[in-house]
Amino acid sequence: MLVQFYNVSKIYPNGVKALDDISLKIDRGEFVFLVGQSGAGKSTLTKLLIREEIPTRGQIFVNSRSIVRMKRNQVPKMRRSIGMVFQDFKLLDSKTVFENVSFAMEVIGASTKEINIRVPEVIKMVGLKGKEDRFPGELSGGEQQRVGIARALVNRPLLLIADEPTGNLDRDTSLGIMDLLYDINHKGTTVVMATHALDLVKAGRKRVIELERGRLISDKRPGDSNNDFTSY
Ligand SMILES: Nc1ncnc2c1ncn2[C@@H]1O[C@H](COP(=O)(O)OP(=O)(O)O)[C@@H](O)[C@H]1O
Ligand SMILES: [Mg+2]
Repeated sequence: MLVQFYNVSKIYPNGVKALDDISLKIDRGEFVFLVGQSGAGKSTLTKLLIREEIPTRGQIFVNSRSIVRMKRNQVPKMRRSIGMVFQDFKLLDSKTVFENVSFAMEVIGASTKEINIRVPEVIKMVGLKGKEDRFPGELSGGEQQRVGIARALVNRPLLLIADEPTGNLDRDTSLGIMDLLYDINHKGTTVVMATHALDLVKAGRKRVIELERGRLISDKRPGDSNNDFTSY
């Protein structure tokens, strides 16, 4: 198991119960959609996974290690095994495509030699070959998200988490991003994608975990009977 949640609740300091007694497991190699309306707790769940937030109750294991009990000095190493993709891309506007991606390797101390091999490889994989020297402002939204995905992948994470990665993109562009995420998953990376784009989820035929006001209300795989998630 790559991810294990045991009876996880998260209550923010303002008293909002964002997650309520969540238990779930995600195996290596899975592709999981995390769905639910705005405010259901999707982003909170992804933040717990990278220990940006700590649960109020319960235990979380990533790659068999408790990330709740983990010492602070071990957090950076754990985060390196997880790539994060964001709705608003979070690129550095003053850096080129190449530099946005290579920066993620520099911060973990990779050598210039390693960077010069790996960065072109991952840029090619996301379909941006030839655009290495562009700045984010010279790219379309879909291309900017591809840079975000390249950056998340460059250090070969075990887990890729995408929080509403198509939220700022039109439909056709979103479909291209989905194909890329499926491709990444087929190559072995476990993917968790939070979204409320139900058309993409339905077309995807993947496992779907549904949250409603902080509670896990369904967890269905494509083969399951009655795998329509009707409550949302
Ligand atoms: N840092 C925070 N402090 C207080 N409340 C928060 C914080 N982040 C999220 N919430 C609240 O927690 C609930 C779940 O939010 P979130 O996890 O962002 O849901 P989603 O991503 O599904 O829209 C919402 O009611 C939201 O307002
Ligand atoms: Mg969210």
